[in-house]
Amino acid sequence: MKKLGILSLSFIIILFAASFQTIDKAQRKNQHKPYNYFEDPQVCSGCHWDKFTHWSTSQHSRSFSGDFFQRQFYDLVIASESFAPELKDARNDCIGCHAPSAFLAGEMTPDQTNTSDNFWKSNDGNRRMAERGIFCDFCHTISHFKNDPPFNHDYVSDATDAVDTKYGDLEFPWSPHHETATSEHYEAPFICASCHNELNPYNVWVKSTYTEYEESVYPGRGIVCQTCHMQPMGGKPAKMGVPRPYNSDHWFGGGFTEFVEGAAHIEIKLNKTEIKAGEKVDFSIDVQAVATGHKFPTGSTEERDVWLRVALVNEKGEEMFHIPVMKNADDPNDKYFITSNEKVAFPSHSKLSEPIARDALPEGDRLYHSAFLDNEGEFTFAQWMTVKVIENRLNPMEIRNEKYSFVVPEKLEGNVYLSAKLNYRRMPCSLADYFGMDHRPVIEVNKDIRKLKIN
Ligand code: HEC
Ligand code: HEC
Ligand code: HEC
Ligand code: HEC
Ligand code: HEC
Repeated sequence: MKKLGILSLSFIIILFAASFQTIDKAQRKNQHKPYNYFEDPQVCSGCHWDKFTHWSTSQHSRSFSGDFFQRQFYDLVIASESFAPELKDARNDCIGCHAPSAFLAGEMTPDQTNTSDNFWKSNDGNRRMAERGIFCDFCHTISHFKNDPPFNHDYVSDATDAVDTKYGDLEFPWSPHHETATSEHYEAPFICASCHNELNPYNVWVKSTYTEYEESVYPGRGIVCQTCHMQPMGGKPAKMGVPRPYNSDHWFGGGFTEFVEGAAHIEIKLNKTEIKAGEKVDFSIDVQAVATGHKFPTGSTEERDVWLRVALVNEKGEEMFHIPVMKNADDPNDKYFITSNEKVAFPSHSKLSEPIARDALPEGDRLYHSAFLDNEGEFTFAQWMTVKVIENRLNPMEIRNEKYSFVVPEKLEGNVYLSAKLNYRRMPCSLADYFGMDHRPVIEVNKDIRKLKIN
């Protein structure tokens, strides 16, 4: 709560108490809420236009209708439920986080959408029912969470069939459309943890963004998820409201250019500026995640890849000689952390699908990601069937030193550049091809370059 005085605090407590009295306790307990208990986002757009337009480009708005979710959920999750007793109701968890109003309505298999909705081909028409994804009225009627810290969609909703009180963080708001009440949840990270920490049916943490955040320096500095992901922007929170120092962005940007560029920093450690053809050159590269409040990458780490490409390039930046990372003989899992196109990755369980190329990237580069293994020990993209996670992701602010060694090729002469690029991609192209979806673009996180003269 931004600068709340004792007076306003007690005022709010009274407001709170009043609004809670109207909620039927039994209803809160069984949490059965038909779709019409929530207002559609279009209703809010009239007065909260910029929040609506930003939200409409967010992954929250397409958490159900997104092409990737649609393919994985209908083609793979439902088909896998009879495979093992643990998976009997696997779909329910997906819906709990990706389409919370369908979950609360008890509809675990909503109608499939036939769009190819994604960030680059947005389908931000009127979103109704399950297609509302994670939307305004759902988030702004959350009462509390069942666990401390929350996980696996353990939110408890206060929505009723009336126009509900909207909870938020504003001081003395007044709205002609709805009642308002201040809730501590909106400026704290628990509201995000409820879906951004996920325990799968085999009791494996397959998403742990909140835990990673909790272990970082940021909680101690009073920095929460919202500080970075819902930054203040200009304008008023509502059309007829008062100007305020804060009007928080609702784009919830994450694995896209605006957030990924500069998320980590790299630095080549090499003292020389002159080298000889045939000479063996040793150097290293420091890699540090500088802007994330959690590991990098985080979230859906079974498909997000961050990799370090190192090469000698010419003045135009064209690669002349690729320098692979040195294998780490001390780490038995090193093979998971070096890019490879071996056909060893399964879109579903290894007994339910055929393998595809694991990374679909140039080989031999250091890769920061998670390897999810199924109960046959095979690499899988199916987080709900994962029994083991092996990972080497970058902790926030940690400096990782990668070692390289190469022999200067005889054919090179004159000026060359030692180039290191850290890249990010949301999913391997092999997986996108398997689902028949658009390839996700490669984003350059950071680069470093050294001019070398070959004598
Ligand atoms: C994922 C949950 C979530 C969704 C979805 C969401 N909000 Fe919010 N909203 C928040 C949080 C959290 C805050 C407080 C942010 C802060 O100030 O740090 C907030 C703040 C607000 C505020 C108070 C003013 C401000 O900027 O702090 C308004 C008004 C608001 N949201 C309206 C909307 C509307 C309209 C939509 C849909 C277009 C929407 N919200 C969607 C979580 C959500
Ligand atoms: C007729 C206009 C109107 C409509 C429609 C409307 N709001 Fe608001 N809302 C306002 C105004 C005005 C405020 C107060 C703004 C201020 O004081 O700065 C407000 C405040 C809020 C707040 C802040 C509450 C707090 O205590 O911090 C939230 C959250 C919110 N609205 C959510 C919604 C949602 C969700 C919808 C759609 C279901 C919606 N509003 C529809 C006008 C509207
Ligand atoms: C009801 C569950 C739920 C809540 C609450 C929630 N999220 Fe999300 N969030 C999701 C899901 C599901 C996705 C992925 C949607 C997709 O791409 O299919 C997501 C996506 C995101 C992304 C985009 C990631 C990317 O690059 O694809 C960001 C950033 C994010 N959430 C931040 C937040 C923050 C910050 C909060 C708290 C203010 C929050 N979320 C609350 C479920 C939730
Ligand atoms: C200090 C700023 C900061 C804080 C605090 C922070 N994040 Fe992030 N987050 C980032 C940056 C920068 C990125 C882009 C790089 C990346 O993908 O990790 C990001 C990315 C993400 C992504 C997308 C990951 C992907 O690649 O798909 C999600 C989801 C996310 N954050 C959720 C959260 C949640 C939930 C919290 C709170 C528990 C949180 N973040 C706290 C800065 C922050
Ligand atoms: C506890 C909440 C939770 C559960 C349960 C959950 N997800 Fe998610 N899912 C998320 C969040 C949060 C993200 C965003 C992480 C990120 O972007 O890095 C996400 C991301 C995704 C994405 C990536 C979308 C993209 O565009 O890259 C897919 C696909 C997906 N989930 C499918 C599923 C399926 C299928 C299930 C059920 C087996 C499921 N999820 C269960 C919270 C959940």
